[in-house]
Amino acid sequence: TRVLVLNGPNLGRLGRRQPEIYGSTTHDELVEMCRSWGHELGLDVEVRQTNHEGVMLDWLNAAADEQTPVVLNAAAWTHYSWAIYDACAQLAAPLVEVHISAPSTRPEEWRHTSVVTPHAARVIEGHGLEGYRMALETIAGR
Ligand code: DQA
Repeated sequence: TRVLVLNGPNLGRLGRRQPEIYGSTTHDELVEMCRSWGHELGLDVEVRQTNHEGVMLDWLNAAADEQTPVVLNAAAWTHYSWAIYDACAQLAAPLVEVHISAPSTRPEEWRHTSVVTPHAARVIEGHGLEGYRMALETIAGR
């Protein structure tokens, strides 16, 4: 099974961006980790990151057309993008929402809502990068 792992804004700086919150592993390393976790689970995993909302919408629309399962960390868009909400609403295959930190318990009120959650089969937050493995396991049906 092909699976898309889609990462939103600022996640390209993983490892350098607020490491006290997001850890010291880079996005390139996350790509390798997801690919090897996928391999163990019999999944063909493709990891992408963009800072451009329209690019993310195009990827989600293609995933809807192709009925591809999606692991989505929409980063800050999670909290306010109705376009991401609409794009997630039309997905046909399972969608798993992932956050490295636990936005629902962070001090900023605006992090406490998610436009992705209503459409997600599962929400994983606060498990660091391990959350991506948990999301892939969910999609693999484990
Ligand atoms: C995040 C949490 C969001 O609130 C934040 O805007 C991010 C990353 C996470 O993975 O913990 O950019 O999605």
